[in-house]
Amino acid sequence: MSELSQTLIVKTFTFEGSGNTRSLTVSVPEVLDPQYGMYVWPSAVVLSQYVWMAREELQNKMVLELGAGVSLPGVVSALCGAAVILSDSAELPLCLENCRRSCVLNNLSHVHVLGLTWGRASPELLSLPPLDLILGSDVFYEPEDFEDVLVTVSFILRRNPHAQFWTTYQERSADWSIEALLHKWDLKCINVPLETFEANKTHLAGSTLPGNHTVQMMIITNNRI
Ligand SMILES: C[S@@+](CC[C@H](N)C(=O)[O-])C[C@H]1O[C@@H](n2cnc3c(N)ncnc32)[C@H](O)[C@@H]1O
Repeated sequence: MSELSQTLIVKTFTFEGSGNTRSLTVSVPEVLDPQYGMYVWPSAVVLSQYVWMAREELQNKMVLELGAGVSLPGVVSALCGAAVILSDSAELPLCLENCRRSCVLNNLSHVHVLGLTWGRASPELLSLPPLDLILGSDVFYEPEDFEDVLVTVSFILRRNPHAQFWTTYQERSADWSIEALLHKWDLKCINVPLETFEANKTHLAGSTLPGNHTVQMMIITNNRI
């Protein structure tokens, strides 16, 4: 970890290769600011590990990250060969600025960053290109936003019926559930056990962030497929 200024900290994550595969080192900025999108969350490290383990199927795929903030999973996807669009709330310019900073730190000049507010049928949402994959780490943290997240996901999956939404969330409350909302928006979900992608660890990618937090991984798809 190195300090660039009083408020900007660069965090480094290294995803381990196996056999002949090289490891991948990613640097992302954290800014000392109260907004959630300025920090890497434990869920982001877990989703990035999933992306890293699936890297071969990501080659040349079109990927959108929602609520990207520091954008670790999106940046890992781009470094693994996907075409990536990073997004965060159109009303949070500092978070969008942080997405851009992550791209600069990783020499990703071809990655687009756009304002995409969950639940809103904005011109940016309507003009998205065809997508293969949506990523979202720790976007289910504020229950009042759950439906807006799923409205956006459902809209994209109706336009891209074979796309998937890969998402991780941190368990913060026992009564957390999106089951009824999945049904309402014609979506289905499978849980992916962390041990299947070597993420059931307190240390991941050289980081202690996962710690003892309970993070879950889900794949959400269109219910009609
Ligand atoms: C808990 S943070 C997670 C950030 C990042 N994905 C991670 O896991 O490190 C939630 C993110 O959702 C973004 N966000 C909050 N409300 C939003 C909204 N209504 N539309 C789009 N993004 C939003 C925040 O700016 C923030 O980047």
